[in-house]
Amino acid sequence: MIPQHDPKITPPARCGNDNAASLAWPSAMSAERLACDAPGMARAAELLQAGALVAFPTETVYGLGADAGDGRAVAAIFAAKDRPSFNPLIVHLPDLDAVARYAVLEGDAQRLAQAFWPGPMTLVLPLRAGAAISPLVTAGLSTLAVRVPGGRVARDLLARVGRPVAAPSANPSGRVSATHAGHVLDHLGDRIAAVLDDGPCAVGLESTILAPGADGTRLLRPGGLPAEAVEACLGAELLPPQVTARPDAPGQLASHYAPRCRVRLGAARADPGEMLLGFGAVDCDLNLSLSGDLAEAAACLFGHLHELDRRGAEAIAVSPVPEAGLGRAINDRLRRAAAPRG
Ligand code: TXA
Ligand code: MG
Repeated sequence: MIPQHDPKITPPARCGNDNAASLAWPSAMSAERLACDAPGMARAAELLQAGALVAFPTETVYGLGADAGDGRAVAAIFAAKDRPSFNPLIVHLPDLDAVARYAVLEGDAQRLAQAFWPGPMTLVLPLRAGAAISPLVTAGLSTLAVRVPGGRVARDLLARVGRPVAAPSANPSGRVSATHAGHVLDHLGDRIAAVLDDGPCAVGLESTILAPGADGTRLLRPGGLPAEAVEACLGAELLPPQVTARPDAPGQLASHYAPRCRVRLGAARADPGEMLLGFGAVDCDLNLSLSGDLAEAAACLFGHLHELDRRGAEAIAVSPVPEAGLGRAINDRLRRAAAPRG
């Protein structure tokens, strides 16, 4: 893939602390780039209904969508991402009624759904018997991960498609997630039919994945919904994931969300050959948030990792980020980006 500069692509809106011009992504593309107007939305829905792969924006990250009932379309997701088939996919639905048709939504799950959907939360629920979901989506599990995404574009698209849409993050497996249509085109543009371009994602981190169960609710992946908010809603502490031979979520694999170059955490300054990804008032190459705002840092994280990779960093040193609220999810992604690669 030969990157070409595309001046039409706008930089992330909420990352105003750096040289914005440098944030225009290079792109190589054959996928259709669709505007989120009526013709663009209609085209995206038509392609999904025809079994094609369409990347679309959610408030967390861009998803790589396919009809969850169409085994061939779902298989194409795994091929495009080069994703291990043991990793199940999240199904996206427009509202709670639609969720209840495919999964059992009761007790704590229902309380969480009412409190936080639409929004950056995924629930792992018992799959309803006879639900028209390809077994490739669940990787043969008896549970289904479901989400009602926030953001007008995603829910308008889901309502138009009228079918459950399976969508992992729109990045090659193990790599940095896409928070901008330009990232999708750079890395998957020659493997998918289209991307709906709605600019940068507001949250910038994937959804928080929760598995409600008889003994309490497990936190499978920290994400865009802070764990503290979930615990306040439930009036109980979240449980850690159960340790199994097969990870429930690829976010649990040690190396994930990895840029091309090495990543070093907790850095006070950059060593020779490194670029510094800062947090707070530090002298750095790119800053997640000059004012130390965790929501801004979350929104900028993946875009800045993509950008430092694009600038040819040999290694990225990262300032410490506080381990609270969204900082827990930011540090989770950074630890996996820094982990030894398999
Ligand atoms: O914000 C998000 O969650 C984005 C947007 C596009 O919705 N999606 C996303 O998908 O991050 P993905 O595939 O990159 O991560 C989904 C995670 C994976 O770690 C997968 O293993 C886990 O959800 N998962 C899916 N089904 C599951 C299940 N039945 N049990 C446990 N984990 C499951
Ligand atoms: Mg992912």
